Amino acid sequence: MLSESVFVRKGGMESKVIRVGVVGAGVVGSGTIETLLERSELLERRSGVKVELAAVAELDTERALATGASRDIIVGDYKGVTENPDIDIVVELVGGVGIAEAIVKSALENSKAVVTANKALLSEKGEGLFALAREKNAPLAFEAAVGGGIPCILAIREGLNCNNFTSLLGILNGTCNYILTEMIENGVEYAECLKEAQALGFAEADPTTDVGGFDTGHKLSLLSALAFETNVEFAKMHIEGIDKIDLRDVNYAQEHGYTVKLLAVARPVGKKLFLSVHPALLPVEHNLAGVHGSLNAVSLYGDVVQESVLVGRGAGKFPTASAVVSDIVAVARRLKYSPVTPGWVPPMESAFELGAIEDYITRYYLRFTVADKPGVIAKIATELSKAGVSIASVNQKEQHEEQGDVAVIFITHSAREGDIKKALKAIDGSDSITAETVLLRIEE
Ligand code: HSE
Repeated sequence: MLSESVFVRKGGMESKVIRVGVVGAGVVGSGTIETLLERSELLERRSGVKVELAAVAELDTERALATGASRDIIVGDYKGVTENPDIDIVVELVGGVGIAEAIVKSALENSKAVVTANKALLSEKGEGLFALAREKNAPLAFEAAVGGGIPCILAIREGLNCNNFTSLLGILNGTCNYILTEMIENGVEYAECLKEAQALGFAEADPTTDVGGFDTGHKLSLLSALAFETNVEFAKMHIEGIDKIDLRDVNYAQEHGYTVKLLAVARPVGKKLFLSVHPALLPVEHNLAGVHGSLNAVSLYGDVVQESVLVGRGAGKFPTASAVVSDIVAVARRLKYSPVTPGWVPPMESAFELGAIEDYITRYYLRFTVADKPGVIAKIATELSKAGVSIASVNQKEQHEEQGDVAVIFITHSAREGDIKKALKAIDGSDSITAETVLLRIEE
């Protein structure tokens, strides 16, 4: 049972106070605690519920005190929050998939509502945690796990809930978007941009989770569970990062009227759902093409609403705290007014099967590196034709020296990825091809 603490308003009206315990006073934890403490009246006025910060679990007491939390509510061990009978909502802001799983489990087992910003945890261990939340009828809210301050989960769950979605495209990683924007705007190579992003604190010392596309993949799996009612095993998702992006392709893409973005893509086709994270060419007039720097964005196409685009800060102390606090208030309202209403958590049965990337159909950008001699383009065109791939444009970059390799850019019409790859295998095996061909998908 959720605890039923009671608070008496000045006017004498009885009202339930919802007591919150925060685990972790790092960047997002401190932003959440500061926001809760500074805005308690505003939150009560808007929600009709008094939300009280009643405990902070943090091993570093000085760090916890720096948030403004009073010493008497600081506990060291997380169990001081998750097993505390006075706490209604446990806010997990520790991150990672180790101890965070134990914290969320312990909270749910004690029938507490949980709010978390932890995309990796929910994406990789969500099945068990959501099952436990269902069993306990305990809300498990995670707005802050995707897109930081952008209320994209709320949009899917509430604002757009009458739609069947026909596509979802997201720029969900600020680090990658910052790096690609620098490459595009300042003509700087990937490695240099990454160093700059690290120096500015946008990228981690080990940037793999971000630049390898895994963080975007975690977020995509959460969004698609809600928008397409489909659970996917994270390990089965197609994930490519930006770490192999070459400045030449960014420049050639621009010459052809495209910008390059790391996209989370979800597209249902028949009974299949294609889910992929990959660097993609977007036409410059696309609604996501102008989303620069560390901003995040989500574009949703619904069969009732048509396109809906949300743009904002995807990470950082206060943008993320904004999402965490809004979840706390939403859950508090639910605990007060309708404690038995089931939340919309990822489905128990999936509506779609995961589509294989080989069956994905889109337009492709192909950069061949070829020896500048007769018959090379004919060979490429022949292999593409044999695979049933239609060419939309060809552009050879003129080589001014006598000998040497040249770049030839082919843009295809819509084609099946497996057919393109079959042609590339034959083409890349030829003596005239001097480097592995670059394949980038074009999304519209
Ligand atoms: N590291 C992420 C980003 C934020 O760069 O957007 C947390 O998911």
